[in-house]
Amino acid sequence: MVYKVRIGGFRAIKPETVREKFRFVSCDPRWSFAEYTTRQTMALTHGYHKYPAKFIPPLAARLIEEYSSPGDLVGDPFMGSGTTLVESIIHGRRAVGVDINPIAWLISKVKTTPLEPAKLTQVLEELKESLPTDGEGRLIKAGKPSRLIHERIDYWFAEPNRSELEVVLDQINREPNDDIRRFLLCGFSNVLKTCSRWLMKSSKPTVDRQKVIPPLVPALLRQLQRMEQRNLLFFEEVRGSGPPAWAKVVNGDARSLPVKAGSIDLIVTSPPYVTSYEYADLHQLSNLVLGFATDLRELRQTFIGSVRAAEVEEVLLSPLAKLTVDRLTTANRIEGRGALTYFQSMQQCLREMHEKLKQGARACLVIGDTELKKVPVPNAEVFAETGERLGLELERVIKRCIPSKILPQTRDPRTGRFTSARKAKALAYPEEYILVMRKPKA
Ligand SMILES: C[S@@+](CC[C@H](N)C(=O)[O-])C[C@H]1O[C@@H](n2cnc3c(N)ncnc32)[C@H](O)[C@@H]1O
Repeated sequence: MVYKVRIGGFRAIKPETVREKFRFVSCDPRWSFAEYTTRQTMALTHGYHKYPAKFIPPLAARLIEEYSSPGDLVGDPFMGSGTTLVESIIHGRRAVGVDINPIAWLISKVKTTPLEPAKLTQVLEELKESLPTDGEGRLIKAGKPSRLIHERIDYWFAEPNRSELEVVLDQINREPNDDIRRFLLCGFSNVLKTCSRWLMKSSKPTVDRQKVIPPLVPALLRQLQRMEQRNLLFFEEVRGSGPPAWAKVVNGDARSLPVKAGSIDLIVTSPPYVTSYEYADLHQLSNLVLGFATDLRELRQTFIGSVRAAEVEEVLLSPLAKLTVDRLTTANRIEGRGALTYFQSMQQCLREMHEKLKQGARACLVIGDTELKKVPVPNAEVFAETGERLGLELERVIKRCIPSKILPQTRDPRTGRFTSARKAKALAYPEEYILVMRKPKA
């Protein structure tokens, strides 16, 4: 049977099943955003902090413009570094974001909080004066480490950055204004990897033995200066745009969104992937140094998609999810268990989204398919099938080709895990899907 399919939507003979809705969707170049430069995608507060698998801002912006109106409440249950929240505010929407990663909370909170520019300039000047350095950028009075932040910090940081870390952190923590202190902490967090033995660009925590490690204070001051310029632009952008900036930013679980049932007008989100990034490991420097976590093992268990994710009690609704888990279990028992927990957890998240959406409102999920142990893992179709069984109609499937210049990572074809572009033989997500799912009106 032949279906006529309009780019990005369904027409004529209406496909009925999820499988049919996917079958004839081809890459829509309008959703690649290949023309955007890094400078543009890092504009405003978007460039404050590195974060894996960030949204490209125009993608979030287009979904927000297309499916919501000014004043609406836009939610992101996996907010990461807060791209959806920032774009919501710029477009005059209210926003609510949740992430289990404490550092994601800090980044998103800071990125959605415009600061009065003159006040910020004054604080930055005072901070600079309080951290005098010699000709090599070393703190003049660093002192000895007074307390052990965490044994792993001693592993990652070499002297003198190790000692300077505490002096700088103490100085930042003296700032009485919460918003400004968080701004400083966000900048501090973003230079931690650069100023440690961490192998940059690695998707796993790896020591770089050849690294020439820059001094901490100059790196921090440069970072804060760049953020200051971005804040100025964001401040002006938000001040000129109707309703006041408003974002509720929560460190919590996507399975329990902090809003009333039936209150969200639009969800724009990109879920984590199964056994891909270990966010708890990747952000260990920030979470440990800032005191957001002390036990990485405990932290890992809360992340959906982690190999260490805690087990979940939930009967899978999607036949394709069950089939995928069975195939994976045959190939490798541990991967099978990981996929089961992942699909179970994501099913709980989709149920929560359905519950918190208004009637007639939409959830837009950005997700790519993947492969583990040579077994295809069709995430997009599984989520679509699960959503439909929970009462979310699959209204539209958009396939976007990701321009190679912004492909964040590649996958190791043997394990299916993210790896460095240098080592990998296969690209991770040359394409991904945007699923537009709608909660029907009663
Ligand atoms: C693909 S990233 C989102 C990136 C985001 N769109 C951005 O632009 O930065 C997925 C996020 O899901 C978060 N996550 C994993 N498990 C979670 C859970 N149980 N509840 C909420 N967030 C979770 C991870 O910490 C990560 O930030």
